[in-house]
Amino acid sequence: METIETSIIPMPRIGDKAPEFKAVTTQGPINFPADYSGKWVILFSHPADFTPVCTSEFMTFASLESKFEDANCSLVGLSVDGLYSHIAWLRTIREKIEYKGMKDVEVKFPLIEDITMEVAKKYGMIQPGESSTKAVRAVFFVDPKGIIRAIIYYPLSLGRNFDELYRALVAMQTADAFSIATPADWQPGDDVIVPTAGSCGVAKERMESVDEMHCYDWFFCTKKLDKETVLKTVLKN
Ligand code: BEZ
Repeated sequence: METIETSIIPMPRIGDKAPEFKAVTTQGPINFPADYSGKWVILFSHPADFTPVCTSEFMTFASLESKFEDANCSLVGLSVDGLYSHIAWLRTIREKIEYKGMKDVEVKFPLIEDITMEVAKKYGMIQPGESSTKAVRAVFFVDPKGIIRAIIYYPLSLGRNFDELYRALVAMQTADAFSIATPADWQPGDDVIVPTAGSCGVAKERMESVDEMHCYDWFFCTKKLDKETVLKTVLKN
């Protein structure tokens, strides 16, 4: 029989349709990504229930859930633990854990049980060099059309930065809405790059006509895009 270590597991890539699956979650059955059509969704995995890094992550993500929902983005968690473990862990978090000012934290987003690892394998979340029995910390951003738009993987020991996940979501939504790109460390209100890579000649031609455009060189032009406009666009999605 083939083991996980020797089988070839295709990894989903940016631009692919999100692999489909049906599963059981703490919020009932899920049909992914069909249930999220018209919305962004972040599908993320964690290695194991009742572990410290994962607990800190779940408390943080749950505390930010309404902020992501306001930006038209749902959250879906996954680990290879079973449903009763998930339920017991989330109850422990709500009833017992106070961490960095967060307490009574209720995780309302679905947490998928994946004891067969079927979903985790489909999404390349089992990375045997790190662990063949636990999912790594994977983050898949899936857009309203069910296309994977960004993927981030972290090792077991490294807790994620959820402000960065929100920043990436808002940046991708802004890029879609305004046909721009976003520079390093971009935050709403910062200048954006125009036009997107590959058509910089157009930027130079338009340089004279767009007041707020600033060109550092022929291939690198930015323009202003105020924070209010960005947030109005993202938050009305
Ligand atoms: C944690 O969440 O603390 C953790 C889980 C699996 C391996 C290492 C750390």
